[in-house]
Amino acid sequence: MPGTELFGSEERKEILDVVDNGVLFRYGHDQQRNGIWKTREFEAEVCKITGAKYAHALSSGSAAVAVALAASGIGTGDEVIVPPFTFIATIEAVLFLGAIPVFAEIDESLCLSAEGIKKALTSKTKAICLVHMCGAMADMDAVMQVVNEHDLVLVEDAGQAFAASYKGKAAGLFGKAGSFSFDFFKIATAGEGGVFVTNDEATYKIADAYSDHGHNHEGNNRGMEQHPVLGFNYRISELHAAVGLAQTRKVPQILKANREHKKLLCEILLETDGISFARVADPEGDSATFLNLLLPDTETAKRTVEHLNKAGIGGFNYWYTNMYHFINQWDHLKEMRTASKLPVELLGSPQDYAKLELPKSQEVMGRLISFGIRCTWTDVDVRMLAAGISGCVKLAMGVPAL
Ligand SMILES: Cc1ncc(COP(=O)(O)O)c(C=O)c1O
Repeated sequence: MPGTELFGSEERKEILDVVDNGVLFRYGHDQQRNGIWKTREFEAEVCKITGAKYAHALSSGSAAVAVALAASGIGTGDEVIVPPFTFIATIEAVLFLGAIPVFAEIDESLCLSAEGIKKALTSKTKAICLVHMCGAMADMDAVMQVVNEHDLVLVEDAGQAFAASYKGKAAGLFGKAGSFSFDFFKIATAGEGGVFVTNDEATYKIADAYSDHGHNHEGNNRGMEQHPVLGFNYRISELHAAVGLAQTRKVPQILKANREHKKLLCEILLETDGISFARVADPEGDSATFLNLLLPDTETAKRTVEHLNKAGIGGFNYWYTNMYHFINQWDHLKEMRTASKLPVELLGSPQDYAKLELPKSQEVMGRLISFGIRCTWTDVDVRMLAAGISGCVKLAMGVPAL
């Protein structure tokens, strides 16, 4: 995936700065660290790319969603509207804060639709955890209308959408708080890491303390600080932040390459009958980490996946393959297989997760085939991929070979 493709001397230099210094911890040790604060630099770089007032680096994207929800005041018994297409981390973060996930429909944008959200509202709905899937953002004008009309808290899990934007505003900044993942599969990686963002100082201060056992990080005497809230350890290490820093600096270059590749792929593939694409609400803000095909129906998509696999081209359909990103594969959730009893089991949910039917989401997911876009592809690579995909779709549609 993009970030890991460009791993090299810049990452090595940032890591060695930390190793040579010997301070692997983001807080304290002010005398020993010789002015080296990689996590702070990483956070500043994230602010530069997103325009966020505050960025706070964390141990993972999962931690970042949990911190964003907690800092936004989501807790026991609050209903949080979530999509059925996301990485399970989104749902786990809601559950482990004691809140109740309520699933709503996605649409061809691969994100929650405003219509879907409206249908899932109850008198206990407190928040929406909106997930921007596959590198592009939800239809924010429509979503924000529902958020404002119903006075909801909006938290954006932009785990897959770092550097994506909608009408010039970055993912993660539309609501109270947002989160990004910097794991292996993302546009930029920290090895493991995540970042919380907000434009609201009070929300930032809670996130900052909550992610480090409540320390408020004021003054320079670690361990002697005040503790405005109880928290937990979601800290990132300086080593991971060093990698995240070098990688984030490469994001403009990655975006440019990815967008060119996606544009060419779409131009070529549009000429093949039966191929359309997932809707991108603002194409200019697409981070272009994925090409998302929508085929005419589930059976055609299934046959196409078989042909793609046979040809060694790859591509994933979240419905048939065990990608673990769609509710139909979350048996542990449906059967409530938990390590310890969660509030949802005591308080109940307006939905029975085992019997839940989401026909629109199922229809979209059955037709979807996604391909990760690589920033190091050449023009020839892109054209060969397009030809391969086109050939497989034609076979699946029964178009005779010329
Ligand atoms: C939408 C979304 N949210 C959260 C996460 C969790 O991120 P991490 O793997 O960094 O914990 C992911 C990871 O794939 C994701 O795709």
